[in-house]
Amino acid sequence: MKPSSDGWEELADWYDQKEGETGDLWHRALIDPVLLRVLGQCRGKRVLDLGCGNGYLARRIARLGATVTAVDASPRMIRNAKSRDDGSGVRYLRASATMMRGVGSASFDVVFANMSLMDVEDAEAAIGEVARVLRKGGRFVASISHPCFNILSNSSWTAEKTMGNKPVVHRKVRGYRTPFAERVPWDKEDGSKPLTMCYHRPLNWYARALSSNGLAITALEEPGPTPEFTKNVQEKPGDMDGAGFQEVPLHLVIEAVRI
Ligand SMILES: C[S@@+](CC[C@H](N)C(=O)[O-])C[C@H]1O[C@@H](n2cnc3c(N)ncnc32)[C@H](O)[C@@H]1O
Repeated sequence: MKPSSDGWEELADWYDQKEGETGDLWHRALIDPVLLRVLGQCRGKRVLDLGCGNGYLARRIARLGATVTAVDASPRMIRNAKSRDDGSGVRYLRASATMMRGVGSASFDVVFANMSLMDVEDAEAAIGEVARVLRKGGRFVASISHPCFNILSNSSWTAEKTMGNKPVVHRKVRGYRTPFAERVPWDKEDGSKPLTMCYHRPLNWYARALSSNGLAITALEEPGPTPEFTKNVQEKPGDMDGAGFQEVPLHLVIEAVRI
């Protein structure tokens, strides 16, 4: 069976341009700073980037002195990642997160998955593979859409107008408990909206999937907006000053240790 990336193959060239070598605004100024802080010092470590996209973060971590393998199911993502290679020694591998052929058991100190786990249909199998390739004591760090506040079309910002006062911004949430899949539209500059598949699972799903695969949660972080993010973000909640992002995290970074 060929590795599936659920819509990402068609979007690979556009996504490569969007992320570039630094990550787009959401990555660079919101999610990545927290992911990198949780990852900590990677020099001398064997690191696997799961669902690497164009591999910008894999290369960044390799330049810091890690030995990095970057895995993605989309052949075009891997081709684009290779074409950006900077000689930092990243090994690029086309494989499914659910069956990483060519990746040895207990061969990594750290596995990270930056905004990719919710795109994997069988994420439990992917977590099983993470547990297989990590050495005992190794760490898994994943950033995901926050399962409590960022639930595909089951969540949105809303502004409640009060007489004479500034509108109050709320995050509206419905339908949290039941896992579901949805096609996510991406706004391309030419007006088209290609779709990728995304899977919502509640927080206790992640806790159970990790612990049943021998991964003990050691940190939960909820990225908050940096000044660069607040200044430049287009999608501003109701009050138009980005205050909603300060109080309601849309992403979660999970660290778990292989026991
Ligand atoms: C939102 S992108 C994130 C890419 C990259 N980590 C980043 O932060 O820019 C999700 C990535 O997961 C990959 N992906 C989706 N399903 C996968 C699977 N089953 N196995 C491996 N990669 C997968 C996609 O091809 C895509 O590159």
